[in-house]
Amino acid sequence: MAALVVGLGAALLFFLTYTYLARLNSILESMPESIRSVSPKRWTKEELRHTYQRLEKNPITLEGYADRIPPKLDRRYIITGGSGLVGGYIVLQLLERGQPPESIRIVEFRPLNRADMLNGPASTVDFVKADISSAESTNKAFEKPWPSAVKHLPLTVCHTAAIIVPSDRSKLVYGLCESVNVRGTQNVLNAARKAGADVLVSTSSGGVSIRPIELWISPLRLLRSAKENIPKMKNYLQVMDEKDFFEPPRKHEEYFANYAVSKARAERIVCGANSPELRTGSIRPANGIYGQPGDNTLGGALAMGDCPTWCAHIIQPFVHGINVAIAHLHYEAVLAANPKAPQAGRPFIITDPNPPISYLDMYQAIEALSATPFRLIRLPPILMWFLSYIVEWYSLLPVKYPFLRRILPELKGDLKHMKPGLFSVTTHMVATNENASRSVDEGGLGYTGILTTLEGMVQEIVDWNIEHKGEKQAKKFQTSISYADEIAKAAEAAGVMEKLGK
Ligand SMILES: *[C@@H]1O[C@H](CO)[C@@H](O)[C@H](O)[C@H]1NC(C)=O
Repeated sequence: MAALVVGLGAALLFFLTYTYLARLNSILESMPESIRSVSPKRWTKEELRHTYQRLEKNPITLEGYADRIPPKLDRRYIITGGSGLVGGYIVLQLLERGQPPESIRIVEFRPLNRADMLNGPASTVDFVKADISSAESTNKAFEKPWPSAVKHLPLTVCHTAAIIVPSDRSKLVYGLCESVNVRGTQNVLNAARKAGADVLVSTSSGGVSIRPIELWISPLRLLRSAKENIPKMKNYLQVMDEKDFFEPPRKHEEYFANYAVSKARAERIVCGANSPELRTGSIRPANGIYGQPGDNTLGGALAMGDCPTWCAHIIQPFVHGINVAIAHLHYEAVLAANPKAPQAGRPFIITDPNPPISYLDMYQAIEALSATPFRLIRLPPILMWFLSYIVEWYSLLPVKYPFLRRILPELKGDLKHMKPGLFSVTTHMVATNENASRSVDEGGLGYTGILTTLEGMVQEIVDWNIEHKGEKQAKKFQTSISYADEIAKAAEAAGVMEKLGK
């Protein structure tokens, strides 16, 4: 009898838990009307094919949009991260508008690896290897003498270098983000001042405004809601804007991850340093940036072949590296022209000039157009959500108990980034160019955006297919995330060596 009661109880409990989780999962997979209305249109196969044919014949090139780059200024340029996704486009646009290569210096940690910079004038730009987390290394890169033809020109610094650690939330592992993104930014700012720069534009992140999503809806609330009437999860749909900058900084836990905490601090350091002698400001690219085969967004998916996802229906305000770069140059023009520009000392968010698309749009573009194999593998979000907590817990074990470092096998590949922070950064999001796209007279940057997400992504696939002509498999490109993993490993090894040395 007792066994029967226990058995029934267990069965009931299992049934209730299962029902609850299944319902939660269906909410996570749903697209409520409020979200559909901000991104009502999905890309059609026809539209994709037309765009592909058009861009194959008439690709988007630097010369093609040269007349929309803010005009050449008689200045010198230091671009930190100048061979990266954003920094590289800044260098290319500067050259295209007629800045002589000798007036530009790339300060960068990783070797030049962008195919579009290995030839032509970009390959003749001075390349100085530096580690911005070291003040000494940064100063040295900034103090290097300039060619006599340009050394008298005023100096602009575009600071785009950063380390991207997508999902770590724990303060225990915050150190790496702090050293590169916060101390690194302070070092760049100090070096810029010493070198006599009068304009500094830094790349921040739209991620600064993202708040963690709260997935749990109490079973009672879930029960009470009718099937069509989906209860709202907190922060399930978010607006990326600049509002938070004008409010006091939030607590560590109120950012989606350590990366965002560090970018928020860096942004406040840069904007707080604004003065008539050194005008500063930040560009916040929305989520995520694409536009090179090594980007984490489209390039990452293209390279995958088998692409597991739980967020195909999620809408995101993607932004092309070209658009982000040109926003930097708009901002620079404003700050260079007017020592008292009211635009100075604040961030501007930048996204492509169209409503957000969904990941599914991007995946379908790959399926329809990519020459390399691609297969979408749909996973239930709730399962991934559980997994993310386990991954986070597991990867913090060797941090909390260093003796475990030698015993526990390390997580590899994308799995190790599968931590809860990732769910907040891949929730439904909308961004706005509202402030940046205002005219300069009205306090904006006069930003319009060179290409839409449809054009930008299809162009990237056109280029991808050219690159893969005759190949059966996707080539490996290093993404900023995989590069960050390498740096983290090197830093850890250096730390261990240091301890051994003592
Ligand atoms: C635009 O800028 C103002 C400050 O100038 C700020 O208060 C507002 O929140 C910004 N709007 C958006 C959408 O970020």
